Amino acid sequence: MNGFTEKNGILYVDNVPLPEIARKFGTPSYVYSASSIRSQYNALKSSFERALPSNWQPLVFYACKANSNIGVLKLLKTLGCGLEIVSEGELYRGLEAGFKGDQIISTSFGKNYNEISAGIDAGIRQFNIESWEELEQVNRIAAEKDKRTAVLFRLNPNIAGGGHEKISTGRHDHKFGNNEEKIVEMYRRAAGMKYAQPRGVSVHIGSQVTTVESFRPAYESIASLVKRLRKEKLDVDRLDIGGGFPIAYEKTGALLDLNSFAKWVAEIILPLKTEIQIEPGRFMVGNAGVLLTETLYIKETDSRRFLVVDAAMNDLIRPALYEANHGIIPVTSNKGRNTVAYDVVGPICESGDIFARQRPLPEIRKGELVAIQSAGAYGFSMASNYNSRPLPAEILVDGDKVALIRKRQNVSDLIRGESLPEWLD
Ligand SMILES: Cc1ncc(COP(=O)(O)O)c(C=O)c1O
Repeated sequence: MNGFTEKNGILYVDNVPLPEIARKFGTPSYVYSASSIRSQYNALKSSFERALPSNWQPLVFYACKANSNIGVLKLLKTLGCGLEIVSEGELYRGLEAGFKGDQIISTSFGKNYNEISAGIDAGIRQFNIESWEELEQVNRIAAEKDKRTAVLFRLNPNIAGGGHEKISTGRHDHKFGNNEEKIVEMYRRAAGMKYAQPRGVSVHIGSQVTTVESFRPAYESIASLVKRLRKEKLDVDRLDIGGGFPIAYEKTGALLDLNSFAKWVAEIILPLKTEIQIEPGRFMVGNAGVLLTETLYIKETDSRRFLVVDAAMNDLIRPALYEANHGIIPVTSNKGRNTVAYDVVGPICESGDIFARQRPLPEIRKGELVAIQSAGAYGFSMASNYNSRPLPAEILVDGDKVALIRKRQNVSDLIRGESLPEWLD
């Protein structure tokens, strides 16, 4: 059994019924399916295996901002992924999960001293550079340690991508990357540096890129830049073509035809004869997770019927932040029940704490379990303690095997590290 399926009227994760998980670990909990992560990775790999020769396969660097639990990272490592990181904390997680430095790339924006230093100490494979000053900083810190480090330059191709304004990164008015002119200038200057070694270019136009045709012009702009750099006798042997591959949320079915996508890479990037890197995050884990939550109350007002669940916007902020529409389904089959329009809300003191408005669902009773779907990416990794709510548990299931990969916080965890000023006694 793969992922989330219904069996005898009950929703299962792999071979395990979700009510069993709720009994054992409580709610709200994030529940991930290892088989589903594996099948996403294999689908991506095999589309490339069909489109590209075996010695030009892209290296996959999982973008761990999507889900950075070390249990999930370890699973992706065993599948053959490297890791894309954006902070010192993510580097730490990656190393704890068993990644070697040369399996890790840093794409962080605004890299601080400590993260550059830790990255160089760990011997990471490359830094993707955002500005001239950042490049100088990397070169300087590498010089302090007398260690060379590879750098790529992030292109901003001025192409709209990303399923929401807040996760689009490829237009000139966004803070990310640089235009072609600037990159050529930085590349030229970097070629004379002793410690930062320019190896290539990167691009990433956004996350949840639902206008998938946008990948093609983004890759074409990379190709034109590489030709220009090579004309100037600047070496380019590594291209990082980013992540952003979309998944379906409320509706089922794939948004990205992986075979066409791999063909674009074969047509546009392969002829440049460089190493190819991709950085998928959401695609690998998004549909492999649910947020399992219990119905606390059904509250009826003059105009609305509210389904009040025990998960809230602090646990899953995507609907509030990106107006994301996650699928929501009861865990036990409701055949024969009426369909009712609910506003599905959490207990937080904000009207924005809402998972769905006027969502038609089978009539649900107090105490029933509900699964908020496609919550494996940018779910727990964006969770907070807002309203002093302890962070939920995370559980990884693989076939019959169940592992608690993060313990639920308790209230004493909430004030860990805080202290009372002694002068207030
Ligand atoms: C540089 C970079 N690479 C990769 C990703 C992963 O994107 P996604 O999860 O949509 O694949 C992001 C996400 O913000 C990113 O900023």
